[in-house]
Amino acid sequence: MGEYIVEMRHITKRFPGIVANDDVTIQVKKGEIFALLGENGAGKSTLMSMLFGMYEPDEGEIWIRGKQERISSPSQATKLNIGMVHQHFKLVQNYTIGENIVLGIEPQKKALGLFPYVDMKSANERIRQLSQQYGLEVDPLKKIEDVNVSIQQRVEILKMLYREAEILIFDEPTAVLTPQEIEFLLEIIRGLRDGGKTIILITHKLEEIKQVADRCAILCQGKLVDVLDVASTSTKKMANLMVGREVSFQLEKSPAQYRQEVLRVEHLSVKNQDGFEVVKDVSFSIRGGEIFAIAGVSGNGQVELADAIAGLMKASGGTITLAGKDITNAEIRERTLDGISYIPEDRQSYGLILDFTLAENLALKNYFQPPFCQKGILHKEEFDRYGEKLIGEYDIRSGQGIRTQVRSMSGGNQQKAIIAREIELGSPLMIFVQPTRGLDIGAIENIHKQILGERDQGKAILLISLELDEIMNLADTIGVIYNGQLLKIADASTLTSRQVGEFMMGVKA
Ligand SMILES: Nc1ncnc2c1ncn2[C@@H]1O[C@H](COP(=O)(O)OP(=O)(O)O)[C@@H](O)[C@H]1O
Ligand SMILES: [Mg+2]
Repeated sequence: MGEYIVEMRHITKRFPGIVANDDVTIQVKKGEIFALLGENGAGKSTLMSMLFGMYEPDEGEIWIRGKQERISSPSQATKLNIGMVHQHFKLVQNYTIGENIVLGIEPQKKALGLFPYVDMKSANERIRQLSQQYGLEVDPLKKIEDVNVSIQQRVEILKMLYREAEILIFDEPTAVLTPQEIEFLLEIIRGLRDGGKTIILITHKLEEIKQVADRCAILCQGKLVDVLDVASTSTKKMANLMVGREVSFQLEKSPAQYRQEVLRVEHLSVKNQDGFEVVKDVSFSIRGGEIFAIAGVSGNGQVELADAIAGLMKASGGTITLAGKDITNAEIRERTLDGISYIPEDRQSYGLILDFTLAENLALKNYFQPPFCQKGILHKEEFDRYGEKLIGEYDIRSGQGIRTQVRSMSGGNQQKAIIAREIELGSPLMIFVQPTRGLDIGAIENIHKQILGERDQGKAILLISLELDEIMNLADTIGVIYNGQLLKIADASTLTSRQVGEFMMGVKA
């Protein structure tokens, strides 16, 4: 069969208005960990979706074990012993782990030699055996909705193994995991390779590639840039190839110069729509010139905490004080005027009005004030002038400048627009929730510089992020939230990311 178990030759795939893969050729050896590296939108998922039969290429050939194949569906891929763990898991929440694993290929027995029924007993036995062999502990009888994402991921991996996959594709598997879980997963992936499996690992995290991959293909804007031997290539070189320019890794962070207290939160509690207390008796304060970062696994109350401070959710107990003024029950607009800028997690539904133009969105928080509005009359030319200024200063790229409908802009540029608008408000308190989610290295670098710049101007910054690296790089003070409570507040220099990871999982010191 030759040296390669997978060959994708001259693959081109177009979507309306974009060439997602442009004449890409990759060759994967049996028994290696082959990484696919690239920024968001580089075409990684598309390329692997074709190997897994979810799309067919417009041009090019796929060869598996030395034979050309047409992979027209995932079941076709499964027959070729190809498995894929998707970026978003595809599990049925109210089924058990065992049921999810066998779904679609249930082992059938015949009662009285006549009626077929699903033999879950022998299926669960097989699952236990695979669990043991690869170190993927699960309880097949538990329901998916009762286990965390890390276990759900194990289920996805077991699902592939149960189908006897030999070529395993992982699409950004670590995006949702804590550092400890990541280490565990990388260990599993190594074990799978050592057991003879071939692994294709999609990621945009260079550290992970350095840790586990043998070779690495770099995609940039749909094109293959290079295929590298990982051991002999620096992460810096990989990053530069991936972004297409020099990237500075080291954030220039000057020592913090704290000023007066800007925000004080005392005994704050927040209930969600169903009446559950999701923020429980939280207290902290932030000074000017300080980045207070909240670390935590998704869904532990961090978003509700930010929403309560910004006024999008009500406090059910406790107080919020901004520069000495009690704003616990103030309206959102009043808080904005009092000095809160908010960069929300869900930029598409809270941050922007997608059908408005870029100019309109940039003035969204001050259109009712001069110079935009005088004596009840809106001055359109002021919107345009202001829009042009911000587009220039913040390098917001779009098809038609200030007239662009925000809906048509890329995620990174939408985020730049929100950040520009919120920074220009000049508020003493800035709340950033997941400011770089879904963005690529180049855009992340810019946003981090802006956050640090605001801090150095004396702003108080509340940063909420699921990315531990982001927290460790930016924070002056770290608060770890778990199950709605701040388990730990400490000077960032006194904590390692490992320790923060432990608090994130609820392990108390
Ligand atoms: N089903 C689709 N329809 C239209 N465009 C798509 C589709 N899937 C992906 N794209 C576009 O193709 C490009 C590559 O996307 P993708 O393969 O998901 O990138 P990556 O996984 O590297 O982030 C992006 O510009 C994306 O918007
Ligand atoms: Mg992808």
